[in-house]
Amino acid sequence: MTTTIGFIGAGNIGGTLARLAVAAGYDVVLSNSRGPETLVDLVTELGGSARPATPEQAAAEGDVVVVTIPLKAYRDVPVEPLRGKVVIDTNNYYPERDGHVAELDDESTTTSELLQAHLPESHVVKAFNNIFFEHLFSRARESGDPERSVLPIAGDDPGAKATVRDVMDRLGYDALDVGPLAEGWRYQRDTAAYAGLFVVDDDWAHPRQATRPLLEEKLATAQRYRDMA
Ligand SMILES: NC(=O)c1ccc[n+]([C@@H]2O[C@H](COP(=O)([O-])OP(=O)(O)OC[C@H]3O[C@@H](n4cnc5c(N)ncnc54)[C@H](OP(=O)(O)O)[C@@H]3O)[C@@H](O)[C@H]2O)c1
Repeated sequence: MTTTIGFIGAGNIGGTLARLAVAAGYDVVLSNSRGPETLVDLVTELGGSARPATPEQAAAEGDVVVVTIPLKAYRDVPVEPLRGKVVIDTNNYYPERDGHVAELDDESTTTSELLQAHLPESHVVKAFNNIFFEHLFSRARESGDPERSVLPIAGDDPGAKATVRDVMDRLGYDALDVGPLAEGWRYQRDTAAYAGLFVVDDDWAHPRQATRPLLEEKLATAQRYRDMA
């Protein structure tokens, strides 16, 4: 059972997921690149369920561990303490930030497959990458709420996806299983199922609900564009 979520990265997405996780009753262990002492403000805000750590400690102490850092830093993610664990990957590829990665530019792999290759004995699930962090917070709804949104997940291990589905459920979202990690391109940057999915008429202050039919339509649009290319 997941009781503690580790975070490698505690910025916009890591901080937001940690807030949702603490509200849902999880313990969280947070880490970043600069060291635990720089996480005091966030941990104080989150209260007694949160503690600061190094990436190695967050990886070791989390039952499930979220990797939410700039993609260019993925090789820094500690391998050994994540062995056998479920790893949630929120990362996206922005060449202007991350530098060019040839295998991503020629689409011979995907971002989460890169992380999976770096963590060969972990179970990577791509999730929470296709929603702007402010929307991630504001659109979270309890199970059964008619305004609840659906987010895509992809991964090669069915058990890991079931674990992530449970975590997402408690954090405020339903999950739509898109398939193995190789299918993660369907909701990567610049697809119809990416963050703009929540936005109508460029109104980022009022994100819409991502219903299952809407998400399925956008995922199908990604396929049509690829078929035309
Ligand atoms: N922003 C969004 O709305 C959004 C939405 C979906 C997905 N994403 C993706 O999710 C990832 C995180 O995005 P973000 O907006 O949360 O980024 P961010 O605000 O810049 O935060 C990045 C975090 O990663 C940490 N970090 C950087 N290098 C690290 C390393 N080598 N080891 C450990 N921690 C490291 C940073 O720590 P320091 O500050 O100490 O360097 C910081 O806590 C990115 O890949 C992004 O593309 C972002």
